[in-house]
Amino acid sequence: KTGYITYDPGFGNTGSCASAITFMDGERGILRYRGIPIEDLAENATFIETAYLLINGHLPTLNELNRTRVLLNDFSLIHESMQVFFQNFPRASHPMGILSGMIMALRSFYPDMGEEDINIHFLYLLSKVRTMAAMSYRMSRGEKVVYPRHDLSYCANFLNMMFDSPVHPYIVDEDLVRALNVFLILHADHEQNCSTSAVRVVGSSKAPLYASIAAGVSALWGPLHGGANQAVIEMLEKILKEGATIDEVIRRAKDRKDPFRLMGFGHRVYKTYDPRAKIIKKMCDKILEKLKIEDPLLDIAKKLEEVALTDPYFVDHNLYPNVDFYSGIVLRAMRIPTNMFPVMFAIGRLPGWIAQWKESMEDPSQRISRPRQIYTGLPQNPFQDIMER
Ligand code: SDX
Repeated sequence: KTGYITYDPGFGNTGSCASAITFMDGERGILRYRGIPIEDLAENATFIETAYLLINGHLPTLNELNRTRVLLNDFSLIHESMQVFFQNFPRASHPMGILSGMIMALRSFYPDMGEEDINIHFLYLLSKVRTMAAMSYRMSRGEKVVYPRHDLSYCANFLNMMFDSPVHPYIVDEDLVRALNVFLILHADHEQNCSTSAVRVVGSSKAPLYASIAAGVSALWGPLHGGANQAVIEMLEKILKEGATIDEVIRRAKDRKDPFRLMGFGHRVYKTYDPRAKIIKKMCDKILEKLKIEDPLLDIAKKLEEVALTDPYFVDHNLYPNVDFYSGIVLRAMRIPTNMFPVMFAIGRLPGWIAQWKESMEDPSQRISRPRQIYTGLPQNPFQDIMER
């Protein structure tokens, strides 16, 4: 297979694999899904078109898109018994823990669907994960769940399920719907990142698709990965509350003895500006202006970026804003609670996980993931009886 320097079937000893889904150039800040630049998709596509592109390898025709929309609508409800699960999670449960558990449970509610219906499972997940995320939010607030509507688009349905209320009916705001589409498109796939690797590793043992996706959610939860969008906002709120100066924050971020990190900065692959961060930063300005929101956190973020990008430490370490640095500002503007930010990342990354899982299942050379190690333990030594220890 071409395109990769090292290739090892099924994540053997090199930890890399060949894939035809997403191309990244970390030096030049390039990101393409099935060859299409992320900038073009963010400008022109919907999230569902992008999900279709990633999973099926091409953008949908109008018929294919309409059929996908009908099926996503058909699959948008979840089994009523699942609501009992939401009711019994402790109130303080993190939505990512709930989501991972609910995805695992989802398979149990639809046992009659065989593995041959795998494309239906993909649509089940895309549609029901969105519904479960909104339901989990409503129940965490003791509010009645709002059911999906047949007349709303994927993103409008999510916002309606999150915020509609008998006393304040939710009015669909097309600018916010567009912003949510762009947010989800930017998060849809990213080559072999931590959570996608987890999906592939679990899938390599031929565990069910739902187990692989639940593993992806678990890996994404960490603050170094998909939990960074939540950590960025918590960091900015702390800076605002403490009144710390920008120079003080930058000084702490550079202090190797200090565990503080500038969240939303740095990347395993991008050694330049994350192309997604550029798009989402522009979207921040647009959406806040449209909603007439003055968010002091955006001002702090912009000042931090300005100082960091000229600081020798950050320049020497190739530390630039990544997608998480500004994404939380957009989600705040949509009134989405901070602890749900990683869930929004998971909804966006779902088609990428599915596409990568599908690609690895269809790879005839795929083997079970079994990395090796360098043994650094004790040489052989005798067993000691308990009385001699
Ligand atoms: C995502 O892989 C993907 O594609 C992920 C993702 C996706 O779409 O799936 O793009 C999503 O996870 C984006 C990243 C979100 N995480 C954060 O924003 C958390 C803050 N960033 C860092 O923790 C860090 O930059 C990582 C985890 C993103 C990358 O870690 P690396 O490449 O392993 O870097 P490192 O930890 O080895 O650090 C290298 C040096 C160290 O300094 P030295 O010890 O060499 O002196 O850079 C420093 C680090 O201290 N450094 C930072 C820093 N990130 C790295 N210093 C201050 N602030 C930071 N954010």
